Amino acid sequence: MNLFQIQGGFGIDHLKQTQRPTPSPGPGQVLVQVAAASLNYRDVMTVKGQYNPKQPLPLVPLSDGAGTVRAVGPGVTRVKEGDRVMSLFSQRWLSGEPSAEARSSTLGGPLDGMLSEWICLDQEGVVMTPSHLSDEEAATLPCAAVTAWNALIAKGHLKTGDTVLLEGTGGVSIFALQFAKLSGAKTIITSSSDEKLERARSLGADMTVNYKAEPDWSKRVKEMTGGEGADHIMEVGGAGTLAASLGCVALGGTISVIGVLSGTAAQVDIRSILMKGVRVQGIFVGPRDIFEAMNRAVTLHQLRPVVGRVFPFAEAPEALRYLESGAHFGKVVIRM
Ligand SMILES: NC(=O)c1ccc[n+]([C@@H]2O[C@H](COP(=O)([O-])OP(=O)(O)OC[C@H]3O[C@@H](n4cnc5c(N)ncnc54)[C@H](OP(=O)(O)O)[C@@H]3O)[C@@H](O)[C@H]2O)c1
Repeated sequence: MNLFQIQGGFGIDHLKQTQRPTPSPGPGQVLVQVAAASLNYRDVMTVKGQYNPKQPLPLVPLSDGAGTVRAVGPGVTRVKEGDRVMSLFSQRWLSGEPSAEARSSTLGGPLDGMLSEWICLDQEGVVMTPSHLSDEEAATLPCAAVTAWNALIAKGHLKTGDTVLLEGTGGVSIFALQFAKLSGAKTIITSSSDEKLERARSLGADMTVNYKAEPDWSKRVKEMTGGEGADHIMEVGGAGTLAASLGCVALGGTISVIGVLSGTAAQVDIRSILMKGVRVQGIFVGPRDIFEAMNRAVTLHQLRPVVGRVFPFAEAPEALRYLESGAHFGKVVIRM
């Protein structure tokens, strides 16, 4: 079988296509023929050695993929041959808060991931694909969508009528936009591109701000909300945006700390947290039961993920470079 692995050092130039024998499922395992995989910003960091510089190599990257079960090992009862499934980001995180085991069983580092034509996964580490989705659409769900659902719905307890602020138009933010709309929330989205903001409007974004043209976007968000601020903020920007988010969060609002797109070390005035009674919650993707709860909503509302661009398997390094450039809207997918 064909796969890509990071070998001989970190860097996108070290992502090489190679072959390994197709594995056979052991007890409790399923053999999945992967049809599509999707990229997360984490994958760029992993390939470049920024996510875990101590990650042993070679490593097959990517946590997210979808395909079909082609064989099952002894004792498998959860799925059967022919079932369409998606990978679970943390293979051994089925419910509850993140544990050490949840953190150490993530695909695409430390475990070999989905940038491979075939993979054997534990039967507990796959989730059934909603039947209305193509494999390319389903491949986008395991990390970005679950993170957005966990932040806004499972842990965020979003209510109809709340205002949600979304930063940028990448994978997590666009899923969060879709989930906020499902929930009857008002949405404000930022982007560096007016063209992307137009696309976000076509997905239902109520208000938009170009954060490049308006560096003081926090003030603009306050104005747009009549001085009240946003009830929920999906903080994907990280160090460079947290202070601005604290400036435009509503009294008693929630900031979901998710991303590190502009760095990890932020200096903030903690008075803006305590005086406003803000809840700052860290989000680490989510467990299987949250993934499955999200899928029920995705199915009920026939929600379709936004696939911005699809690359062929052989162009996986170009796909990573494309994601890194920030030119994309929504999700970037690799077709096997
Ligand atoms: N905690 C978790 O469990 C978890 C899960 C998934 C992702 N993440 C993290 O969340 C972040 C987003 O992930 P992703 O996969 O959605 O990334 P992505 O698809 O690569 O999104 C990148 C987009 O974010 C926007 N952006 C970049 N810098 C920004 C800034 N300083 N302020 C506002 N927007 C900015 C840009 O949008 P425009 O082009 O529209 O400007 C860019 O295209 C990453 O740091 C990732 O590691 C964390």
